[in-house]
Amino acid sequence: MKKKIGVLPGDGIGPEVVREGIKVLDTIAEKYGHTFEYSYGDVGAMAIDKTGNPLPDATLAICEASDAFLFGAIGHPKYDNDPSAKVRPEQGLLKLRKSLGLFANIRPVTAYDSLLHMSPLKKDRIEGVDFVVYRELTGGIYFGAKGRDGDTAYDHCVYSKSEIDRIAHLAFKAAQNRQKKLLLVDKANVLETSRLWRETVTEIGKEYPDVTVECMFVDNAAMQMIYNPKQFDVVLTENMFGDIISDEASMIGGSMGLLPSASIGAKTGMFEPIHGSYPQATGQNIANPIATILSVAMLLDHLDMIDEAIDVRAGVNYSLKMGMVTSDISSEQGFGTDRVGDFIVNYIIEGEEDASNENISLGISTII
Ligand code: IPM
Ligand code: MG
Repeated sequence: MKKKIGVLPGDGIGPEVVREGIKVLDTIAEKYGHTFEYSYGDVGAMAIDKTGNPLPDATLAICEASDAFLFGAIGHPKYDNDPSAKVRPEQGLLKLRKSLGLFANIRPVTAYDSLLHMSPLKKDRIEGVDFVVYRELTGGIYFGAKGRDGDTAYDHCVYSKSEIDRIAHLAFKAAQNRQKKLLLVDKANVLETSRLWRETVTEIGKEYPDVTVECMFVDNAAMQMIYNPKQFDVVLTENMFGDIISDEASMIGGSMGLLPSASIGAKTGMFEPIHGSYPQATGQNIANPIATILSVAMLLDHLDMIDEAIDVRAGVNYSLKMGMVTSDISSEQGFGTDRVGDFIVNYIIEGEEDASNENISLGISTII
């Protein structure tokens, strides 16, 4: 197959982790006889530095023309500490989501057996955790009217039924292919928008009789995610709640460096690690490339390259099993970003045994 892939490395560690993702895509292309045509675009703080705009038109055009695109990270401390900045890197990401109609953000959360000790949560609480967050991405408080009125500031939260409908259907379909449990996270005891979510999702649930629907207030859900995360299967929620609980959920796996995401909507899809730009680590070759490589697996799924995606995930599992990981996961034996990428690529080409042999020849036999 021939596919057009946009590549937006962005800021901080974005370029380093995206480089590993592209290495994996190149390997898959070669192994399975595909052609991936890459087009690179600027986004975030680096785009502001170059053009004054966090999402230049040329970048948007690349994304629009792509079958899917890989996104690194955006953000720079010089903006975080300047509340008066008129232009911010984050605006690039929000505009991208809105312009491309990427209304559903999918964030899978997995507790890997080999990493249970890494989580701040107790092993028996998290063993076997496997759920997915469906976060609405183009509505709610992020996109409602915002402004200042004298000493007052406001951010309006607005949702229409159709915005809830379209993501709810995706979440129900996902539940049908999983444990058939859908949990709506809202704040329906306080917020009118949440009451509309509850009404709409309960109604749509009738079209999916095989899926059990439950609703939970977001404060309770935040607590349950630590107390008993095994209860979750598909978690559906609005934009802001999804932002918060998905960061919380990333601690189950032990490192934010492991969590991929997909943002999908009308046509093209965007695939990105959920971690940010991690400016302190920029250029040090210590960033964990796994979240990006797992985002590549989601990208392949999106292109209907299912075996290819399985292959990539197997490579990631093998690197975790063998301890071929960066220092966020193994402080005594952290390998470089590129080495972890090479190991996974090698697995995809050579399979398990040869990947290990290669490893020995690289002089890292102690981990095997
Ligand atoms: C995320 C990020 C973004 C968000 C920021 C960078 C605007 O936290 O993708 O979760 O809040 O959506
Ligand atoms: Mg976030």
